[in-house]
Amino acid sequence: GGAVDRAVAAFQDGNPVLIHDAADREGETDIVYPASAVDADAVAHLREDAGGLICTAVSDAVADAAGLPFLEDELDHPAAADHDLAYDNRSSFSLPVNHRETFTGITDDDRALTIRRLADAAATAARSDGYDAEAFATEFRTPGHVHVLRGAPDLLADRRGHTELGLAVAAAAGLPPAAVVCEMLDAGSGGALTPTAAREYAQRNGYVYVEGAAIVDRLG
Ligand code: 5RP
Ligand code: ZN
Ligand code: CA
Repeated sequence: GGAVDRAVAAFQDGNPVLIHDAADREGETDIVYPASAVDADAVAHLREDAGGLICTAVSDAVADAAGLPFLEDELDHPAAADHDLAYDNRSSFSLPVNHRETFTGITDDDRALTIRRLADAAATAARSDGYDAEAFATEFRTPGHVHVLRGAPDLLADRRGHTELGLAVAAAAGLPPAAVVCEMLDAGSGGALTPTAAREYAQRNGYVYVEGAAIVDRLG
């Protein structure tokens, strides 16, 4: 439990953690932030040191209140008919969004604004009954440049992706159900950064590195 406790403490301090899902799943290490702690510097950190897709995971309950579906359930296109993912039963992608106060949506400032407002919306939706799709739409538009991910209903009992692992750490930290994830890619090869290299990066930079299995054991 040591690494998990340190990950929860890091989240409480507004710091990112590195989470490796599992060798027999994606085999990826994501840099994961509590969404409420993401500023423009954090977005720059994610695109420079992680390099994958910057996404914001919200809980199933928040997504349900805000009317945020699984994208694959909504698309009436043959490309969405067959979900033949090699590593899991379903993708967690919901809608890609921008906050309405952004301009293009892609700059560090714009993505940070969208992400922080998603954190606020998640906190509001989690604590009050009145939050709905109309409330969400007053603040956000789709398409946009921040991918919302929808957590599985029973979190780690249902699915053990970075979506659920990040949300489980946020919950244990007593934070709103919103976590930002981005895959670490190897700058040289473009492949997934190996767990060994991710651990070394964590050690060099003072970040917590934690295995998905340890999170499942302690928080699942
Ligand atoms: C979005 C992804 C990432 O792998 C992200 O970690 C969320 O997915 P999952 O919950 O399946 O791990 O593909 O860029
Ligand atoms: Zn992942
Ligand atoms: Ca991935």
